[in-house]
Parts: sequence; structure tokens; C-alpha cells
Amino acid sequence: MKVQDPRIIKNLFSDEDYNKLKTHLYNRPKLQENFDPSFERYCFNDGLINEYMQKLIPVAREIFGSDTLLPSYGLFAHYEGKNPNLFTHKDDNACTYTIDMCVYQTEPWDLNVDGKPYTLQENEALAYYGNDQLHGRDTFPNPGKQYVAMIFFHFVEPDHWWFTKGQEYVNVVRGQITEEQWKENNGNK
Ligand SMILES: [Fe+2]
Repeated sequence: MKVQDPRIIKNLFSDEDYNKLKTHLYNRPKLQENFDPSFERYCFNDGLINEYMQKLIPVAREIFGSDTLLPSYGLFAHYEGKNPNLFTHKDDNACTYTIDMCVYQTEPWDLNVDGKPYTLQENEALAYYGNDQLHGRDTFPNPGKQYVAMIFFHFVEPDHWWFTKGQEYVNVVRGQITEEQWKENNGNK
């Protein structure tokens, strides 16, 4: 895999598809159980997000130059509060190929990838490599008055551990359990 510079994708979905997705997510209750106080964001995944991730397979294959990549998981994140934040990091989950979409926002909040800022409008996305490229955000603009909502669509190759070992294997990747413990939990597969 050759890592390329991040690219902005305009009009990620058709107007009709985008409006359906935005309306659904904008109106979905922001439940306290989905709130992550460290980032000040509500995160969840649902059937519509998964459906839209399927629609993106041809787009992802084209932009990342892979005929074989498949969706791993998608996550919606609505940032709002006194100090929403996203420290600079590389992903440790199944995020080889990432399409980060802006669903709705009161004002853009630049995403930095390898130190370069990218500004996204609604229905635009940034394509980058979540495991290989450092990404994060600077200070949230006008905290307490703004919100920014994204979907992270992640894709991997079929031989990735996400598929060969299962998504629980992330606990081994994170060093939370050993390979041996994971094998015991998973019937020594
Ligand atoms: Fe990330």
C-alpha cells in the first residue's frame, strides 16, 4: 500500500442521499449514554450509517486505489460543549483507509493530517490513512455555541485482523490482553 496525501472529496453523496442522512442524524436524540466526556462528543453507529458505508465502497476503492478493500466500521460523532477536542493521534483500530465526512456543523473545525489543516463543508469528506497518518484538531471554535458532526467511515483489506480474527482482537493490538488470553477467550481459533 502506498500512502498518498489526504484528499478532499466534494459532494460525497448525492443531494438526495445526503439530505436523508443529515436529517436522520440531526434529529436522532443525543443520548447521555452515547456521550464521551473526554472528547465532548456523542458517538454512535446505526443501520443507516452502515448502509451508507456500503454505498461508499466504490468511492473508497477508487480513491485509495484498492480493488479489494471492505468496510470495517463507521461511527457518527457530534462534538458540542465547552471544550470539544481531538488530540493528534494515529488510530489503532481497523482504520487503514478512512473517509471522514462532515455531516453538519455551525462552523468548520479544521482537521489536521500530518500537520496540514483541511477545511470541510457539509457533505464533504477527507480521505486519509487513519493508522499511518497523524490526525487531530486544534482548539474548537467558539466553544459552547457551536457543534460539528462527522462520520468516520473506515475500510480495511480482507486479510486484516478485523476479518481474520474478529473485532475483539483490537484488545490485543492495544496491549489490554495477550494473544494467549485472546485465544482462550475465542476457543483457540
Ligand atoms: Fe482517529
